Amino acid sequence: MEFMDCVKTRRSIRKFIEREVPFESIQKAAKAAMYAPSWKNTQITRYYAVTSKEIKEKIASYLPSINQQAAQSAPVLMILSVVKHRSGYNREGQCDTPKGTGWQMFDCGLSSMLFCLKANELGLGTVIMGYFDEDAIAKDLEIPDTEEISAVIALGYPDEEPVMPKRKDIDIILKQI
Ligand SMILES: Cc1cc2nc3c(=O)[nH]c(=O)nc-3n(C[C@H](O)[C@H](O)[C@H](O)COP(=O)(O)O)c2cc1C
Repeated sequence: MEFMDCVKTRRSIRKFIEREVPFESIQKAAKAAMYAPSWKNTQITRYYAVTSKEIKEKIASYLPSINQQAAQSAPVLMILSVVKHRSGYNREGQCDTPKGTGWQMFDCGLSSMLFCLKANELGLGTVIMGYFDEDAIAKDLEIPDTEEISAVIALGYPDEEPVMPKRKDIDIILKQI
């Protein structure tokens, strides 16, 4: 798939068909994410692929109603976390810029974008979800407290073809100075 085709055809998918996603496909998407740039190459983003129906249902119950359709129908829920106190930090363990801990979410965003684009290339749909009960998920999945959950991504074969939400004009997002 051409790069711009992949970029333009990726949509947030909130309804999935009942079809298992091969673990190799999840792995391919995560392998693409490995190539993302990160603060001092710290590579802090972690992906937990929840495919067990029972655990998935529990995780879905920690998401609000707006995310229920995606969470319930997706055959995979990816839980993304970041290893804390690395990105944006110096060797002395202090935040190195006025952005504080902001760089860790920045790194996770770069990584997850590659994950979603590779998934799209493989015919898989994704939606990144920012609303979830972080503590409940961390407890159930026994995510160590050295990590912080950053996002949940529903993953599966799409059961809808959403129209692209309107993008802002280029003059708004790009200024030549
Ligand atoms: C950080 C982030 C959080 C998001 N959280 C949610 C969410 O909780 N629920 C949801 O349905 N979509 C969520 N989205 C998806 C956006 O609504 C979607 O990307 C946007 O409307 C543009 O549509 P597109 O992805 O199809 O281009 C989120 C996207 C991002 C990047």
